[in-house]
Amino acid sequence: MTKIAIWCRHDGDNIIGIGPKIPWHIPSDFRRFRKITEGCDLVVGEKTYESFPNRTLPNRNLHILTLTPNYEVSDKAHHFVYGDINQFKEFEADLYICGGATIYKLFMTSGEKLMPDVIVDSRYCGEIEQLDGPQINITPCIEIMTKTYRKISPDYEQENVYTSLWVKKGNFVEQSVLKKLVNIISINN
Ligand SMILES: NC(=O)c1ccc[n+]([C@@H]2O[C@H](COP(=O)([O-])OP(=O)(O)OC[C@H]3O[C@@H](n4cnc5c(N)ncnc54)[C@H](OP(=O)(O)O)[C@@H]3O)[C@@H](O)[C@H]2O)c1
Repeated sequence: MTKIAIWCRHDGDNIIGIGPKIPWHIPSDFRRFRKITEGCDLVVGEKTYESFPNRTLPNRNLHILTLTPNYEVSDKAHHFVYGDINQFKEFEADLYICGGATIYKLFMTSGEKLMPDVIVDSRYCGEIEQLDGPQINITPCIEIMTKTYRKISPDYEQENVYTSLWVKKGNFVEQSVLKKLVNIISINN
C-alpha cells in the first residue's frame, strides 16, 4: 500500500481548523480533494468524521480512528471503526490520511510503517474566517515534513491555494500513485 497524507493548511500559522470547522471555503480545493480521494480508502479521526455533512463522504470507504467505545457510524457498509493506529500497519489498499491534526500527527510519529509515503501539501494564502473555538494547527507535522520529506513538484496555484507533492526521503513510491496525483493537482479543477 501507499500512504498519502492530504491537507489544506493556512499559510504561515498552519491552521487547518477552528473548532470543528475549516475556516475558509475554496470550491476548487474541495473538488481537488474529491477527485483525489473518490473511490479510495480514507482514514480520519472521530472529530473530522463528525464534521462531515451527515457524517459521510460519498463514494469513499471511511476508516475512523476513535477512542470512544462502541462508536456508531452512519453507514456500516462503508465506514469502519479502529481504536488502535497499529491496525493500519498491514492495510493492503492505498490509504489516504485525511486528518484532523491528531490523526496526521499520529501517522507521522508512529514509526516507519505508518508514516505517509507522500504528502499532498496545500497552503491557503487568503484570509481565514473568524470562528469561535480553538485553533487547530499542524505545525509539528510541517516540521517533520520539511526535515524528512523532499518536495518533488512545483507549487500549483488555484484560488490562492498552492499545492505541491512531497515524498519521504529514501522511500520508493509507486509511480502510478504519483502520476495520478500530479495529473489532478496540475490542472485547474
Ligand atoms: N484543513 C484540512 O485539510 C482539514 C482536514 C481534516 C480535518 N480538519 C479539521 O481538523 C479539526 C479536527 O482535528 P482534531 O485533531 O481536533 O481531531 P481529529 O484528528 O479529527 O480526531 C481526533 C480523534 O482521534 C481520537 N484519538 C486520539 N488518539 C487516538 C489514538 N491513539 N487512537 C485512536 N484514536 C485516537 C480522539 O479521541 P479523544 O477525543 O478521546 O482524544 C479524537 O476522537 C477540525 O477543525 C477539522 O475541520 C481540517
